[in-house]
Amino acid sequence: MDVIIRGTADEAVELTAAIIADAINAKPEFTLGLATGKTMEQVYAKLADLNKAGKVDFSRVSTFNLDEYIGLAPEDKNSYRYYMNYHLFSRVNIDMKNTHLPDGMAKDEVAEGERYEKAIAAAGGIDLQLLGIGCDGHIGFNEPLSSLTSLTGAKVLTPNTLEVNGVYFNPPSSMPKRAFTMGVGTIMAARRTVMLITGKVKAEIAKKAIEGPVSAMVTASALQYHQNAVVILDEAAASLLEMKDYCRMLWENDPKWKKFHR
Ligand code: PGA
Repeated sequence: MDVIIRGTADEAVELTAAIIADAINAKPEFTLGLATGKTMEQVYAKLADLNKAGKVDFSRVSTFNLDEYIGLAPEDKNSYRYYMNYHLFSRVNIDMKNTHLPDGMAKDEVAEGERYEKAIAAAGGIDLQLLGIGCDGHIGFNEPLSSLTSLTGAKVLTPNTLEVNGVYFNPPSSMPKRAFTMGVGTIMAARRTVMLITGKVKAEIAKKAIEGPVSAMVTASALQYHQNAVVILDEAAASLLEMKDYCRMLWENDPKWKKFHR
């Protein structure tokens, strides 16, 4: 696992967007896995800027989001479909029919999970999966205790997630208690994963996910088994890492990161 530490959240965001743009430029027919949440808003703003500047083209890109709340329609302002349309899809030259999220209104939940897995496979699998991390260590909505080989399906959210994300709902208690999410196994099948972690509030969970034991209690720790995973942190999120000095050496000395130096 490559762990890269940048000074500020802005620099971490900029590197994340640059890695995505670089990967799309190398393979224009690209299947991109997307994430939602506060941290990602800046990444999407940056990608929209790069698209506007002609530095990345989304016209042949297909996207698959990690998750969607069960019971929320696409028009609902709290749905992740709404979030994605607002923060990214309406701001870049992507073909909307190539953008995919689980259908939060699907009646048959098992069939919806299977449909999503098949759609990902039909698109050739995910080339790069963008990831955030929850304070409880979740990737997608794979909450603590989730199987580390799970596929897309319905998950019950933890009290921690309900508390953290409830602030976006009015009243907070109206937040759905369940969501569809790609499984940890789905995420692990992506050819490459890029996780972005910023802010002091994430320092403790970043340490557990990156340096702690692999455990279903912190589903992000499964990425330690991924062959092509990078985690990008700002100084605040990296503050508790034991391997900080080594991470800096990695950024300075691994030739694959040189082209991202500015
Ligand atoms: P956040 O969400 O960026 O809003 O902290 C991250 C996540 O829950 O995956």
